[in-house]
Amino acid sequence: MRFIPICTEAEITRAAHALIEGHLVAFPTETVYGLGADASNKEAINRIYDVKSRPRNHPLIIHISSVKQLNKWAVNVPEQAIKIAKKFWPGPLTLILERSPLAKDFITGGQHFVALRVPSHPIAKKLIKTFENLGGLGIAAPSANIYGKVSSTSAEAVKIEIGDRLRKDDFILNGNRSEIGIESTIISFIENEISIVRPGYITIEKLYEDFGHTLKLSKKDINLKTPGNSKSHYSPNAKVRINGDPVAGEGLIATSNIETPQGVIRLSTPHTLEEFAHELYEAFRLADKLKLKSVVVKLPEERGLGIAIMNRVKQASYRAM
Ligand code: TXA
Ligand code: MG
Repeated sequence: MRFIPICTEAEITRAAHALIEGHLVAFPTETVYGLGADASNKEAINRIYDVKSRPRNHPLIIHISSVKQLNKWAVNVPEQAIKIAKKFWPGPLTLILERSPLAKDFITGGQHFVALRVPSHPIAKKLIKTFENLGGLGIAAPSANIYGKVSSTSAEAVKIEIGDRLRKDDFILNGNRSEIGIESTIISFIENEISIVRPGYITIEKLYEDFGHTLKLSKKDINLKTPGNSKSHYSPNAKVRINGDPVAGEGLIATSNIETPQGVIRLSTPHTLEEFAHELYEAFRLADKLKLKSVVVKLPEERGLGIAIMNRVKQASYRAM
């Protein structure tokens, strides 16, 4: 695998060529790092599933360069979806829409819907644009981690997590720590119902602020295969305990107003919800590096970005019996 510490234009162009040739490229986005492959290349997509040990019916997000590329992958796109895309793209938002014939079963897990996102990280933007200029249609990229484990928010974390599963012509592009630190908000537009499939940085409050009464969010759970909705996901090896009292030897992730009891290992001390999201996965990784057996997370209030943080921590705390 080629680890690129400083991504010059020439290196990004090489990585785009590697994608066209069917290799994998892990790249930074503003949310978390993605493990990318040509969304039209079945063999390359199969490799993503193998590298992640991810079940093949879990669909992948396709990353495109702008809202103009939407119609390649999606059909019957509702006007509301276009408005929301124009407002939040490039950015931490994924839309689930009716698929076009280009979005094959190997991307959508056999569903009639496809997930699309335009990331804002400059390296991701450049990579996608160069790939499109070479004739590529979109880059499928799940988070660059082993299935069920903590997403990677740095190139180093990608290397530790999946480096030994990559081949010599695959790339890892370094783009520093992911600014947001948790995955994109996913909104689906299916049968005239709009629902939030995964909470994220773009909050429900923000969506209402911008789209007000025109946005009718469905409360109904949609029957989509979204991994981790109830199962273990985003999990460190350490056990995650929510809101308990930490004892000596345990890790602690809590906002700065909460003190560290004696003998407890403080892993993160965020001052804001943004910092909480930004540091969460790195703090989980630190717990594993220190070989801690368990970590207590004091959850922030369930409001705004706190909803997404709570969603990830709850799934991280889930243990299959
Ligand atoms: O921030 C992000 O979204 C990151 C970066 C790399 O873009 N990507 C990411 O991908 O989190 P992944 O594969 O780890 O999570 C994507 C989620 C999964 O829960 C998947 O099931 C859901 O999106 N998804 C993808 N396509 C879908 C579809 N067609 N229908 C329903 N859910 C879908
Ligand atoms: Mg993931």
